[in-house]
Amino acid sequence: MANEKQFRLKTKFVATRNVKEYRETIPRWVTKDDVVLEIGCEWGTTTVQIAPFCKEVIGTDVSAECIERARQKHPEVRFEVLDAFDVRAAVALDKQFTKVYIDMSGLSGYRSLLDLIALLNMYATVLRPEAIIVKSGALKHFASHCVAWRGEAPVGPRRAGADDASDGEGRPHS
Ligand SMILES: C[S@@+](CC[C@H](N)C(=O)[O-])C[C@H]1O[C@@H](n2cnc3c(N)ncnc32)[C@H](O)[C@@H]1O
Repeated sequence: MANEKQFRLKTKFVATRNVKEYRETIPRWVTKDDVVLEIGCEWGTTTVQIAPFCKEVIGTDVSAECIERARQKHPEVRFEVLDAFDVRAAVALDKQFTKVYIDMSGLSGYRSLLDLIALLNMYATVLRPEAIIVKSGALKHFASHCVAWRGEAPVGPRRAGADDASDGEGRPHS
């Protein structure tokens, strides 16, 4: 059951359809003071693209082989083995993460939407980042059909952009 603290969460969730969109968010959402965690970094291709935009970034993956390869390819960036479902391991990194990027295989389809939402809620609650950017076509599709009811919407055909969950710039309303 939801509680009051959940409703006070400030974390924004940004759903992207594919890796192109996932990476396109970087210059829009990552700023120079950010401390960024990437979950599911594989060989660190996105992690190194995030690095120049922020103060610090750590790429993580459940696969030790991926992390070994990421470290070899990008020795200037920090990479750690981490299972996304072990949020205590993320806390043990001992950083105040302001942005979290999530791109996990097996978690982007409709069948895993509930698991994904549970994971997002867990990271929002525990790490309290400003935003979580996630690669999930299913979440993007679902979110694009959601309207945050504010009570003032006119009855009748929807005006273009009137009640979108975003401000038209890809950034949600605050
Ligand atoms: C599509 S790849 C990530 C690609 C990478 N983000 C990029 O932009 O180049 C998905 C990654 O999710 C990782 N993964 C799967 N389950 C995971 C879990 N429970 N925790 C962390 N990483 C996981 C896989 O090992 C794989 O490397």
